[in-house]
Amino acid sequence: MPSIAATRRRFLGGLVTVGVAGLSLPALPRLAAGQDLPLTPACDDGDEVTIAQTEGPYFTPDSPERAMLREEGMAGTPIMLSGFVLTRSCRPIPRALVELWHANDAGEYDNAGYRLRGHQFTDADGRYRFETIVPGLYPGRTRHFHVKFQAPGEPVLTTQLYFPDEPGNERDRIFDAALLLETDLRPPMTGRYDAVLDVA
Ligand SMILES: [Fe+2]
Repeated sequence: MPSIAATRRRFLGGLVTVGVAGLSLPALPRLAAGQDLPLTPACDDGDEVTIAQTEGPYFTPDSPERAMLREEGMAGTPIMLSGFVLTRSCRPIPRALVELWHANDAGEYDNAGYRLRGHQFTDADGRYRFETIVPGLYPGRTRHFHVKFQAPGEPVLTTQLYFPDEPGNERDRIFDAALLLETDLRPPMTGRYDAVLDVA
């Protein structure tokens, strides 16, 4: 009997194959780990503001400030999650808070400590970047990250980010296609989401 973690890994392996075979990947510049994002965010003046979604039951305040959430020996597919935090008019927001928390490869949250939890602030160009793993699945939800974005002195936006071509998306009652990551499945896998906050 394979472990749940092994099953998840096999499932994700299948997902990768389907995504590549279907040529459904967005045509994005490749962003290898450690490589900077392109200087210009891919957005237009008047872009839709990022929608809010429920925080869910597993948020823990006071997470450590860090970009590296992946730990030595941790099961799961490595992924670099990155993007810009932008104003409504597409201006990058420096020093914006970006908080990330998510399930491990087996679909479990660390509710006792801070594993796979962290926050950081965007750089002078409004960019953020986390090194983590692809979240595992747990009953009742499709694959997702939980995130909070906050421009300095502005309200917190809480939402979730999703994976393209994920079979569970259609069945998930919270899922919204506006919150899909742009992913590149070639290792090291990357996911990009540019958040647009309701600030001038
Ligand atoms: Fe969740």
